[in-house]
Amino acid sequence: SNDPLVVFTPSGKRGRFPKGTPVLTAARQLGVDLDSVCGGRGICSKCQITPGYGEFSKHGVTVQDRALSEWNSVEQRYQDKRGLKAGRRLGCQAQIMGDVVIDVPPESQVHKQVVRKAASARVIEMDPATKLYFVEVEEADMHEPTGDLERVARALREQWEIPEIHTDLSLLSKLQSVVRKGKYQVTVALHKSHNDTSARVLEIWPGLHEGGLYGLAIDLGSTTVAAHLTNLETGEVVASSGIMNPQIRFGEDLMSRVSYAMMNPGGDKEMTASVRDALNTLAEEIAKEAGIAPALIVETVFVCNPVMHHLLLGIDPVELGQAPFALATSGSLSMDAKELDLSVINPRARVYILPCIAGHVGADAAAVALSEEPGKSEDLVLIVDVGTNAEILLGDKTRVLACSSPTGPAFEGAQISSGQRAAPGAIDAIRIDPVTKEPRFRVIGSDLWSDEEGFDAATEGSGITGICGSGIIEAVAELRMAGLLDESGLIGSAEATGSARMIAEGRTHAYLICDATDQGGPRITVTQGDIRAIQLAKSALYAGARLLMDERGVDKVDRVVLAGAFGAHISSKHAMVLGMIPDVPLDKVTSAGNAAGTGARIALCNVAARAEIERVVGQITKVETAIEPKFQEHFVAANAIPHKTDPFPELAK
Ligand code: FES
Repeated sequence: SNDPLVVFTPSGKRGRFPKGTPVLTAARQLGVDLDSVCGGRGICSKCQITPGYGEFSKHGVTVQDRALSEWNSVEQRYQDKRGLKAGRRLGCQAQIMGDVVIDVPPESQVHKQVVRKAASARVIEMDPATKLYFVEVEEADMHEPTGDLERVARALREQWEIPEIHTDLSLLSKLQSVVRKGKYQVTVALHKSHNDTSARVLEIWPGLHEGGLYGLAIDLGSTTVAAHLTNLETGEVVASSGIMNPQIRFGEDLMSRVSYAMMNPGGDKEMTASVRDALNTLAEEIAKEAGIAPALIVETVFVCNPVMHHLLLGIDPVELGQAPFALATSGSLSMDAKELDLSVINPRARVYILPCIAGHVGADAAAVALSEEPGKSEDLVLIVDVGTNAEILLGDKTRVLACSSPTGPAFEGAQISSGQRAAPGAIDAIRIDPVTKEPRFRVIGSDLWSDEEGFDAATEGSGITGICGSGIIEAVAELRMAGLLDESGLIGSAEATGSARMIAEGRTHAYLICDATDQGGPRITVTQGDIRAIQLAKSALYAGARLLMDERGVDKVDRVVLAGAFGAHISSKHAMVLGMIPDVPLDKVTSAGNAAGTGARIALCNVAARAEIERVVGQITKVETAIEPKFQEHFVAANAIPHKTDPFPELAK
């Protein structure tokens, strides 16, 4: 063919197009990622490209003069009003006239967002449920008696192939003034759900809206609530924030909250109100931190365990406290944010809640499955997401099993004498010299170890605030390796160990990590009570994993993925010394960071992922730990450090 050849970089996609084809059209046909909000009207400038003059040889294209059409009046107008960077053209205006290589700069390719995790990176294809559409609306006319909404609908149909829209009264009440203010040009935020053909108008702005569009991915945990404010156009996380779950005052763990609801008439309603309040506060704070108007937040995705799920929805969780642990619904849910009293974000914002797997295995576990994809794994992977409740998944391509296990909040630093959340000031890593029994440690917010030059005691005194989950896990494992703690978890005395770090506390002993009381700082110890709390937590975790292994008929797994609030920081060696996870080569243990949070972000950024996880959840085999007698057996045996009967040959290496 004599049609000009076009090569796009960096994708390398190429094709021939008739002279006069706009670059944007060519890009669309080749599936090249080139953005556009205004549909090629020369208004949004999202479609900027750089024709790569002078770089042709390496792509096997011979440059031709006037490979693109001349600068046109639309580009000139844009240039006069706002200016285009040197060498840039608007892809919707520039037409292909000859062979050419066209570079799409990063800011014009927004349809991918890499989620970075400690060990791996996962690419999210940006295709959120809510997107911006710029349209030119036909002006109102005496002779054509249609309403403004119908004319907006027609414009969306003709200009964007949106078959059908609907909206609510609150939007309708401002529609006319917005349309006129924009001189019959408007931008609408349209929400297209994966299981509904009609699109919903969530917001409308006069002219081209350039203020962005945002969504919240929320991991609603029993102890902490973590939110990521995400730009729905680029996928970028613009702010992350976390707060304590205020329901803690009704009970530290899930079952005590269920009992609170059972014992106190209206108790469930109190807990629902308190978490919804906190979500409003969180939304307000995170929007402020990012410097955006909360009304620009048009979507929220929640992942949570079943009890939090019911309490968020305003459903009494009492059935979840007793066999057969029936959920009100296990399906995914879509609703208006205002149904959940989320009043700070856009009044028409939508909420999506991932499906639950079973009465004890919630949407948080589904989110982990979405993020880690055990069902696509070639080898047998054990994924543990550690929070107040541990979500455990075991599987490969052939079959995935899931359970949850009540670890309690010790791994999050709660119920630990000097425990705290992983935040600046928390000791998150510790080593104990096996000979001198002296500790060295590191504090979040500082790169220095306590024995390094520059680490000063005054800062130590004022800077250290406690010890977080990964810190306490390392401390217990290090105490065991230094011979200061026996297999049953008993801390030795100063006499027995020969270390002055061992201090008597009543009938038990504690290990002194640091004492900064003379500088006004804290005194941080690991007490016998701390060890017991960690033993209970780790036994529950291990027993859950073993139960899944029994069910699958294996006594070994190929690899382990640690996820959860501290998943990124935890040392695999210490986790195994403690016996949190089954024996596996240490290099086969990886961290996934907050996998549930990542799953929430994926569902927020890609609407097809919602359909995907709904399908995957249907295929996961649920294992109920609470009624399984073998769970108790495994739990008791796992109390020893690392374990009473199971061998740990990899640790001996
Ligand atoms: Fe909007 Fe080109 S697509 S300016």
